[in-house]
Amino acid sequence: MNDKHSIREQIKKTLSRLSKPLYEDYSYKIACRLYEEHAWKQADVIGITVSKCPEVDTYQIIRKAWETGKTVVVPKCKPKEKRLSFRTLTEFSQLESVYFGLYEPLVELTTEVRQEQIDLLIVPGLAYTRKGYRIGFGGGYYDRYLTSFSGETLSLVFNEQIISDFPLEEYDLPVSKIITPTEVLKTI
Ligand SMILES: Nc1ncnc2c1ncn2[C@@H]1O[C@H](COP(=O)(O)OP(=O)(O)O)[C@@H](O)[C@H]1O
Ligand SMILES: [Mg+2]
Repeated sequence: MNDKHSIREQIKKTLSRLSKPLYEDYSYKIACRLYEEHAWKQADVIGITVSKCPEVDTYQIIRKAWETGKTVVVPKCKPKEKRLSFRTLTEFSQLESVYFGLYEPLVELTTEVRQEQIDLLIVPGLAYTRKGYRIGFGGGYYDRYLTSFSGETLSLVFNEQIISDFPLEEYDLPVSKIITPTEVLKTI
C-alpha cells in the first residue's frame, strides 16, 4: 500500500524509532545548513511551526532567528475552515497547548501578520519526494495556504522522511527546497 494514509503511518513509526542522540544530531545539522541558505539570510520575517517530536526540532531555529534580529511568525489553525493564520512570536511563553499537544500562539499576546509579509515559509510535513512534494498530517492546511503564497518555501526533513513517490492530487503543492542532514535539494 502506498496511499497517503499508510505512508503517514509508516513514516510516523519509523520516526518514533529515532533515538534522542540521532534526533538531536540530525536536527542540528539541518539547522546549520538552513543558516547557510540565501533565503534564510535574506529573510526578515520567517514563518515556522513549533515542532512536536519527532518533527525536526525548530526551537533552536526560532531562537537563532530571534538572536539574528528576524521576526518569527507561527501558525494558528482554524479547524472549521482548515485554514492557517500566522502570528508573531517573541517569546515561547506566548504559546499555548491546543489539540494533540501542538503549541499555538495566544491570540491575546500576539498579532496576526498578512501572508505578503512572510519572506520565508518553513513548511512542515511527514513525507517528501525529492521533487519537493509533501504529505502533511492530513488536513491540507499548507496546501491551502500555499495556493496564494509567493515567498520562499522550504522544508526541514530527516532522510527517513524521503519517499520515492506517492499518489499526487491536483492541490498538492511542492516546496522549493528540502534540507536534510546530508544535503540541500533544490526541487523546482
Ligand atoms: N487548495 C485546496 N483547496 C481546497 N481543499 C484543499 C486544498 N488543498 C487540500 N485540500 C483538501 O484537504 C484535504 C487534505 O489534503 P491532503 O493533501 O490529503 O493533506 P496533507 O497535505 O495535509 O497531507 C484534501 O482531501 C483536500 O480536499
Ligand atoms: Mg497535501
